[in-house]
Amino acid sequence: MATQRQSEKDRVVIFDTTLRDGEQCPGATMTHEEKLEVAELLDDMGVDIIEAGFPIASEGDFAAVQEIAKRSKNAVICGLSRAAFKDIDRCAEAIKPAKRHRIHTFLSTSPVHMKYKLQKEPHEVYEMVIAQVTRARNHTDDVEWSSEDGTRTEFDFLCRCVEAAINAGATTINIPDTVGYSTPEEYFNLFKMVRERVPNSDRARFSTHCHNDLGMAVANSLSGVMAGARQIECTVNGIGERAGNAALEEIVMAIRTRNDKFPFVTGIDATMLTRASKLVSAATSFPVQYNKAIVGRNAFAHESGIHQDGMLKNAQTYEIMTPESVGVKQTSLVMGKHSGRHAFVHKLEELGYQLAGNQLEDAFVRFKALADRKKQIYDEDIEALVDEEIATAHDRSKVLSLTVIAGTQGPQSATLTLDIEGKHATTQAFGNGPVDATFKAIHALVPHEAKLELYQVHAVTEGTDAQAEVSVRLSENGRSVTARGADPDTLVASAKAYLGALNKLTSRRNKMPAIERRIHSTDAG
Ligand code: KIV
Ligand code: ZN
Repeated sequence: MATQRQSEKDRVVIFDTTLRDGEQCPGATMTHEEKLEVAELLDDMGVDIIEAGFPIASEGDFAAVQEIAKRSKNAVICGLSRAAFKDIDRCAEAIKPAKRHRIHTFLSTSPVHMKYKLQKEPHEVYEMVIAQVTRARNHTDDVEWSSEDGTRTEFDFLCRCVEAAINAGATTINIPDTVGYSTPEEYFNLFKMVRERVPNSDRARFSTHCHNDLGMAVANSLSGVMAGARQIECTVNGIGERAGNAALEEIVMAIRTRNDKFPFVTGIDATMLTRASKLVSAATSFPVQYNKAIVGRNAFAHESGIHQDGMLKNAQTYEIMTPESVGVKQTSLVMGKHSGRHAFVHKLEELGYQLAGNQLEDAFVRFKALADRKKQIYDEDIEALVDEEIATAHDRSKVLSLTVIAGTQGPQSATLTLDIEGKHATTQAFGNGPVDATFKAIHALVPHEAKLELYQVHAVTEGTDAQAEVSVRLSENGRSVTARGADPDTLVASAKAYLGALNKLTSRRNKMPAIERRIHSTDAG
C-alpha cells in the first residue's frame, strides 16, 4: 500500500475473522451454508475484509472460502495460510474468484513459539518471513503478514521481521496479542515503537488482533488504533480461540459513541449489528451472554423502578446509545392468532425474511398453530419458527407427534411418530428422564452411531409459555453437526433438534467429501 492519504487517516478498516478465528474455536463449527449466510451479512453490513477461512485446513474450508469469494460483493475476501508454500498456494486458489482478495500469512516470532512450536532459530524464522511474503505476493498485491505471538516477541527481532515483511511486499502488518496477555498501555507502546523504529513502516497499514483472555481485547484494539494502527481484527459476538477475540460490535459502537476519545470512522452499518449477532449465535449455537455489551438481550433492558422512571422521563438518563442505532426494534406484541397471511408476510419482511411458495405456506400454518397455543407472539418466536422452517425444508425425516410420560415415577416413556421419507413410523421408548426417552425413541426409528456432544435449551422469550429453542450437537466419525429446534414444548423442540442434526449428518454423508469438517491439527490461533 502507498503512504496513507490524508482522508484515509481516520478510517479504521474492519477485518472480520468470525469465519476463521471464530469458527475454529471448539464447538463453533458452521455448515457450508451457514458460512455463506454469515459472509453475505458481513458483506452487506460493510465489513471491509472478511477472513473467510483457512483453506489448507480441510476440503470444507477450501470450498467455503472459494464460494464466499465467488459471491462477494464489496468486501475483500481473505484466506489464512501458514508459511509453507503449499498453504499459500492453496489459499491463493481459494480466494481467486473474489473481485478483491487478500492472502494473510503468519509466522510465530516470540522466543517461546520459535523454540517449542517451530523449533527454529530466529535467523531461520527471519528468512521464512521473507520467503512467505514473497510467495504470497506472487499471487496477489494485497498481502497481510502477522507476527504470531507478537506481544511476547523481542522488540529488535519484531522490528527486523516487520521491516523485512514490508520490503518483501506485505501491505498490512498485523501484530497479534495471540495469548491475550497485553494491556492497553503496553499495546499502545508496542505499535508506537514499531511504527517509529521500522524505517519503511509508512508503506504498510498496521493491524490489531487481540484475544480476550484477560477481558481486554477491545480496549487493547482501540489502544493500538490510538497508536496508529488502522485495521482491527475482530469477530461478531467476540467468538474465537479460548476466551475469544475483540468483539466487532463493541469496537464499532465504542468508536461511534465515544468519538470524542476515538476520532475515527468505520464503514459498518451499525443497525445490522443485532442481526449479525443473532445469525452468528444461531449458526454456531453459541448463546450470547445476557449482559453482553451492545447485543446482549439485557443491553437495553431496564428493570428497576428507578431506572424505568428515569427512562420514561428521558432515555438519556440510562442509555448512552439508542437501541435503534444497533438494530434493536422494540418487541412488537401485535402478532397473534387473529393475524392474517398479509400481516404475517409483512412481519417476515420487517424481520428480513423472504419466503415464498410452500415454505411460506408451511411457516404460516406453523405460526397459526403456535398462536393457538401461545398468548403473545414476539418477533423472536417468529424468527425461531422461520429459521427452523428454512433449516428443515429438505429434511429426510420429520417429527409428526410425540407423547411423553414424565414425572417422579420412572422410567419415563416417549411415544414418537416420525415421517421418514414420506412413510410414517411409530415407536415407544423408555429412558432415564423424558429427554433420554425421546432420544432413545429417535434412535429406534433412525438407527445411528452418532454421539451426543451438546444439548442446550433456552427460552426464546419470557414467560412460562415461551418457546424453547434447543440446540443439539452430534458427532460421527470425527465430524460434528449442530441443529436447532423450536417449540413451546421443550421435548418436542429437543426431538426436532436431535432429528435435525441426524438429517444433517445423513446429508453430509451423501455429500462427502465436498463438505469435510475442519482438521483440528492446524495451528492458527
Ligand atoms: O491470534 C493469532 O495470532 C492469530 C494469527 C493467525 C493472526 O489468529
Ligand atoms: Zn487469533
